[in-house]
Amino acid sequence: MQKIRKAVIPVAGMGTRFLPATKAIPKEMLTIVDRPTIQYIVEEVVASGIEEVILITSAGKSAIENHFDYDFQLDTVLKEKNKTTLREELNNISNLIDVVSVRQKEPLGLGHAIWMARNVVGDEPFVVLLGDDLVRSAVPCCKQMIELYNRVGESIVAIQRVPMDQTFQYGIVEGVETEQDRTFKVKRMVEKPAPGTSNSDMAIIGRYLLMPEIFDLLEKTTPGHGGEIQLTDALLALSNRRGMYAYEFTGRRYDAGDKLGYLKAIVDFALENPSLGDPFRQHLHKVLSTESQNN
Ligand code: UTP
Repeated sequence: MQKIRKAVIPVAGMGTRFLPATKAIPKEMLTIVDRPTIQYIVEEVVASGIEEVILITSAGKSAIENHFDYDFQLDTVLKEKNKTTLREELNNISNLIDVVSVRQKEPLGLGHAIWMARNVVGDEPFVVLLGDDLVRSAVPCCKQMIELYNRVGESIVAIQRVPMDQTFQYGIVEGVETEQDRTFKVKRMVEKPAPGTSNSDMAIIGRYLLMPEIFDLLEKTTPGHGGEIQLTDALLALSNRRGMYAYEFTGRRYDAGDKLGYLKAIVDFALENPSLGDPFRQHLHKVLSTESQNN
């Protein structure tokens, strides 16, 4: 079985749900407590044993590439000022992992963004992590998926259970239980099903482990909803061709590309922060008790 060495992180989307904040700043660079969303995702990849990150970027996203690059000027200034801890912290970010960028010239959809990685990934299985999808867990979600892959040897999509009245917002998987814990064999996949058309509550989130055949299938996928190359269509074709598993990961997932998801991530991450957690909790108690007294 081939080792999973590469992670594709698409960050070329327009981030329209977060305008005007994202007019000049990529949504992946918006801060959650003390670091941008994308750094948490790259840290997950590193903690999962991945060796190379392939960022799919677009015009206006150079701040992301710069964030993981070495800044000679800044390093020299910090050195002169004896800011050793800060210097170390910044150098740790640029030493995290090898990062390669590929430009997606037009936002033609998530499927197209992943297809852009074909030459850099080559003929080996790889993981995909969406640049605005955060998962907080004891064992990194990406690592959980790689461990499952080492047992089943096929593509995997990460899923979470969602209320039935929200399934129309997700790609939904229908599948049957397997002997593996929290793992289902994919039978059907529907992108944003109309209410009442699917009885499954298993929603695909922004973590995938894919066989390289996905690139050929993406190439053959005709544009779907909104003229975009949809990933779900190619996933379904891949699952019909060689089989696919849906894995109910353990952990909490946040859609940081959505305002409410982003706010929830900030609150939860701040509460878990060793130096901020207690004073922030006290502040929240005060806010909530004042609010309930006023109502
Ligand atoms: P989203 O739909 O969440 O991103 O795509 P978006 O298009 O930036 O969001 P809104 O709806 O306009 O606010 C999921 C992921 O796929 C990437 C996005 O950057 C995000 O990480 N993506 C999407 C691309 O890289 N290219 C695309 O053409 C579309």
